[in-house]
Amino acid sequence: MQVPFMDLNKQYQTIKDEIDRAIHDTIQSCAFVAGVKVKDFEENFAAYCGVDHAIGVSSGTSALYVALRALGIGTGDAVITIPHTFIATVEAISLTGATPVFVDIDEDSYNISTDKIIEYIEGSCTQDGGVLVDKSRNVRVKAVLPVHLYGQMADMRQILEIAQQYNLYVVEDAAQAHGAEYGGKKAGSIGDIGAFSFYPSKNLGAYGQGGMVTTKDAKLSEKIRLLIDHGQRAKNLHAFEGWNFKMDGLQAAILNVKLGHLDRWNEERRSNAAIYGKHLSDIDGIIVPKELAERKHVYHLYVVRSKNRDVFVNFLKDSGIGSSVHYPTPVHLQEAYQHLSYKEGDFSVSEACAREVISLPMFPELTAEEVEYVCDAISRWPEHR
Ligand SMILES: Cc1ncc(COP(=O)(O)O)c(C=O)c1O
Repeated sequence: MQVPFMDLNKQYQTIKDEIDRAIHDTIQSCAFVAGVKVKDFEENFAAYCGVDHAIGVSSGTSALYVALRALGIGTGDAVITIPHTFIATVEAISLTGATPVFVDIDEDSYNISTDKIIEYIEGSCTQDGGVLVDKSRNVRVKAVLPVHLYGQMADMRQILEIAQQYNLYVVEDAAQAHGAEYGGKKAGSIGDIGAFSFYPSKNLGAYGQGGMVTTKDAKLSEKIRLLIDHGQRAKNLHAFEGWNFKMDGLQAAILNVKLGHLDRWNEERRSNAAIYGKHLSDIDGIIVPKELAERKHVYHLYVVRSKNRDVFVNFLKDSGIGSSVHYPTPVHLQEAYQHLSYKEGDFSVSEACAREVISLPMFPELTAEEVEYVCDAISRWPEHR
């Protein structure tokens, strides 16, 4: 048997008629950029997340960037985030001119450690008229940017408490967490702003690029709408410099169809995760993901850990099983961020994860038989320790 890491075509075949109709209809109506298809999808996505405003954008990276810009974050400011993430989380901060400040993740959730946020604030910052200042970096700490990594939400209750205490904004990187929940609330609905990616492989994936910004705040929503359209308040009247981050109508029409299937797809991911958990949790040397209290994990990725990761990857390949690594180099050790002067050893959990994590096949159309085949192969792997 061959088990691919993912198979996007298999999903398309199950919704082909609906998708083809939506594409045809969009072309017929010429709603190519922003327009009615984007508006429909924005309304449906806002309702799905339980927020008042959702603004379609060109990618998850642009969603994060405009979220921070809308909050007025820029040069002289700092944003707290994690190094064990996709680089876009951090690029969005630095592109505004702000300084990314890293804190480590928790071992059991792969999400930002709230203890480490407090440790950083208490160890490196002072309060200056209600503003948190990192004296050694000479920046005002304005926001915390938790990443709901792999499909499980960060500890939003504690993050909000810290944010309130220190006057910080909260921007959720929900790129991997469409439909995930914390305390019954959806990703993207708890912080000041949520940022989603619709990269094709995501739980809700476009057939190209796309992103969404969510917020309950009408003023922020209005600012974001200007930011993504050249600061254009009325035709040819530009209130400030923005950019072109608008969503493509075809992607919106496709995503609108796919949104109707998202809950079922997430349940199918969860069923596959349950089969993995049942067979793999007792195997020595493999650490399986945990669904924490108050969370609904949507398993964008099913990530296990092995001390022999690189040998494990080759073994899976030889067994006809696809896999991937998210992410092999933490962002603080990337060449792109050497100027931030972090070094190896600064974030031990993130660094251990970078060495040990491996993502097993996970997508809604993956069959129970295929998951069992993967589990069976893993149980026969001789290198566990
Ligand atoms: C955690 C995280 N943040 C941000 C992004 C950026 O999204 P996009 O690729 O749509 O720009 C991604 C996805 O690739 C991601 O996984």
